[in-house]
Amino acid sequence: MLLGVTGGIAAYKTPDLVRLLIKKGFDVRVAMTKNAEQFVTPVSLRSVSGHRVLTADWDTQEDPFDHLNVGAGLSVALIAPATANFLGKLAHGVADDLLLTTVLALECPLYVAPAMNPRMYANPAVQENIKTLTARGITVIPPSAGAMACGDEGEGRLPALETLVALMEKAAGLNADLSGKKIIVTAGPTEEPIDAVRFISNRSSGRMGVAIAEAARERGAEVTLIHGPLAVPVPDNMTDVPVRTAKEMLDALTERFAACDMLVMAAAVSDFRPARVSDAKVKKNGAELSIALEPNPDILERLGRMKGGRVIIGFAAETENLLANAREKLMKKNLDLICANDVSRSDIGFDSAYNEVHIIGRAGEPVLLGRMEKRALAHRILDEAVKLLPPSRAAAQG
Ligand code: CTP
Repeated sequence: MLLGVTGGIAAYKTPDLVRLLIKKGFDVRVAMTKNAEQFVTPVSLRSVSGHRVLTADWDTQEDPFDHLNVGAGLSVALIAPATANFLGKLAHGVADDLLLTTVLALECPLYVAPAMNPRMYANPAVQENIKTLTARGITVIPPSAGAMACGDEGEGRLPALETLVALMEKAAGLNADLSGKKIIVTAGPTEEPIDAVRFISNRSSGRMGVAIAEAARERGAEVTLIHGPLAVPVPDNMTDVPVRTAKEMLDALTERFAACDMLVMAAAVSDFRPARVSDAKVKKNGAELSIALEPNPDILERLGRMKGGRVIIGFAAETENLLANAREKLMKKNLDLICANDVSRSDIGFDSAYNEVHIIGRAGEPVLLGRMEKRALAHRILDEAVKLLPPSRAAAQG
């Protein structure tokens, strides 16, 4: 594959990216712009890739036609990070440096990962260029949201390296380890109505579940996302089943569970619901008001009883005795894996793009997956989950 590096601050991450790609079996050729050299040196990228790097300096090329030669036989090309400048030039066919000339001559699928300040990313000119590139069949990988090097917050960060690697594997047909598998993912909170306008809910944003659904789809699974109200959009190319209450989530799952190979229950299901729901808005009259609550069904416990050969993964939201409590839920709900979350921390979990979990299986020691972006974490969780699926017939025969 070809990795094109342009001059954004995220370029400093590219030696790590190259290392991860090589680990997955890619032979990586790197081409970089002059500005990229402000953030990472050709020598670093040459050291990790094991190949001479194509730089903006034509004189140093071994062959004057390197920009054409490099494209031959490539499975895929990725530009990461892609600056606003690069996107603009590519959208208009400008070829005023070696990387752009190389890219214009490519015949393989091209992916670009824009990374820049969120205000720059939101600029209509940049968005228009992205539209143009997408319309030409180039895959534009949406940037992640979060705190930027400049101190601004918003959409513009280079996605987690693991996400980029998984996309490249998929593009090159290397990683479809969930291909043919039907996976149900639940995400977000449930809402339990009190009256016509009020409800009980929790702080779940749905980001973790959505990240898992997206990662499963990237790995070839047929994904159904059953979710409460989300703070993030539902990704494309999956069956979208919006629900509101725990009861609705249970019904949606009961209908679909038999046909799935794996369930990942990342939803934050409300354990209780108001015993009586008023159709009208409850009026205040100066007196105290108590709301009687009754328990909701434990969805996972019910499905755990009908598990059969399916793989079930749960989450445990804990504020104390993290591992012991999570292990108890794993056994009680008949799960294969549980991801234990410390929800008392403010730097991970609820409302955050980051999470840290301990993955606990039925045997063996818990594995700590340290604080990372939820998108990267989703792939790590699926790495473990895939190992538990029965081998597919094709794999068993082959
Ligand atoms: N869960 C569920 N149905 C519920 C409550 C939780 O299916 N009514 C699922 C969650 O989606 C999660 C797992 O069970 O995958 C554990 O949820 P958690 O809130 O950590 O634990 P609870 O079982 O609700 O126990 P407690 O609130 O007492 O910690």
